[in-house]
Amino acid sequence: MRLGKYELGRILGEGNFGKVKYAKDVDSGQSFAVKILEKQRILQLDISEQIKREIGTLKLMKHPNVVRLYEVLASRTKIYMVLEYVTGGELFTKIESNGRLKESEGRKLFQQLIDAVSYCHDKGVYHRDLKPENVLLDANGNIKISDFGLSALPQHFREDGLLHTTCGSPNYVAPEVLANRGYKGATADLWSCGVILFVLLVGYLPFDDRNLAVLYHKIFKGDVHIPKWLSPGARNLIRQILNPNPKTRMTVAEIKDDDWFKQGYIPAVPEEEDDDIYIDELDAALEFANTDGHESTHHLTNAFQLIGMSSSLDLSGFFEKEDASERKIRFTSNYSEKDLLERIEDIVTEMGFRVQKKNGKLKVVQQHSDTSADSLSIAAEVFELNPSLYVVELRKSHGDADLYRKLCTKLSDHLGVCSSQQLVTTSA
Ligand code: ADE
Repeated sequence: MRLGKYELGRILGEGNFGKVKYAKDVDSGQSFAVKILEKQRILQLDISEQIKREIGTLKLMKHPNVVRLYEVLASRTKIYMVLEYVTGGELFTKIESNGRLKESEGRKLFQQLIDAVSYCHDKGVYHRDLKPENVLLDANGNIKISDFGLSALPQHFREDGLLHTTCGSPNYVAPEVLANRGYKGATADLWSCGVILFVLLVGYLPFDDRNLAVLYHKIFKGDVHIPKWLSPGARNLIRQILNPNPKTRMTVAEIKDDDWFKQGYIPAVPEEEDDDIYIDELDAALEFANTDGHESTHHLTNAFQLIGMSSSLDLSGFFEKEDASERKIRFTSNYSEKDLLERIEDIVTEMGFRVQKKNGKLKVVQQHSDTSADSLSIAAEVFELNPSLYVVELRKSHGDADLYRKLCTKLSDHLGVCSSQQLVTTSA
């Protein structure tokens, strides 16, 4: 298949939003990866100007350790992100198959990671979902971070208390993000870098447990066992980055000044910046995709919103009609477990659902589900983080996605940590 000057080839990966395909520029023979987003799978949000700015920012990110976004193309039904082609696979895969790295090797990758992260932070872009799966390796074994750009998320979209709490693996997530206590993108990203450093040097996760409540506790307390066989310098650095208090957690500047970190450190030299020409280019893509008269600018806006995000941000539930990650939603609350279970019961009963209790879980089914389109069955579970903070997990077993979304929104509106607090705290 052809896409302008690109010839599309095999599938490289399949994310939540769509496929990533190999592409070759037929003129130059150069290889690219093209992320293909289906417009129709995207819901409506009216944030075009902000998103265009965000994509503009993403396209200005030119760092040797950040996957480049070269251009954005659009057809009637799809949006194409032309990305740098990275051939070394995921860092995660390497650790899984070869185990932990030598300290010197791990340090080199961690230096590249910090370099890339600090470059993006300096441009006001925060990842917020750093984990080995979106840390790729190039042919020379150097780090390439993909999917920087959750910052494209508009503020008002974060206020619902659901968006940044969808269930991905929480293993890499900073405690203050989990707790919805308010966080700065920079410190939250550094926590994830600390988790990645641990995985690089030790070969397994610092915080892990099959029981989610236990896992939350460990993260929340920064309860990490750092093996004694690591060098004192590495142990000291890990401990200071995996500090559950974001206010006293090590900063990028402090990491760069750390003795263990500094060994053999050669900062990368980012490419020169271009001017803002990309905004025009984006406008052009917008027009192109809008030519058939059926698709409103609105739809395209949504597509552009996605571009600023990524396939691995676990946000798909909010955009796709039906997606695995949408079935499970998590939010935090200050109500006690007993209060929460009672209030959930009251709210859902008021909404016309019937509640069954079993083993501390609530099962919610619709009372008058004559048609399958209307039927809904969900399970609710509450985990204690500390005596004044709880996590509520809602899981849909089956039923209508829109109805489920409404129910989730209502529950988190009534029971979630108050949104004004989130509003203050999520602004980086
Ligand atoms: N899979 C996802 N993104 C990729 C990229 N940029 N290069 C190669 N494979 C990928």
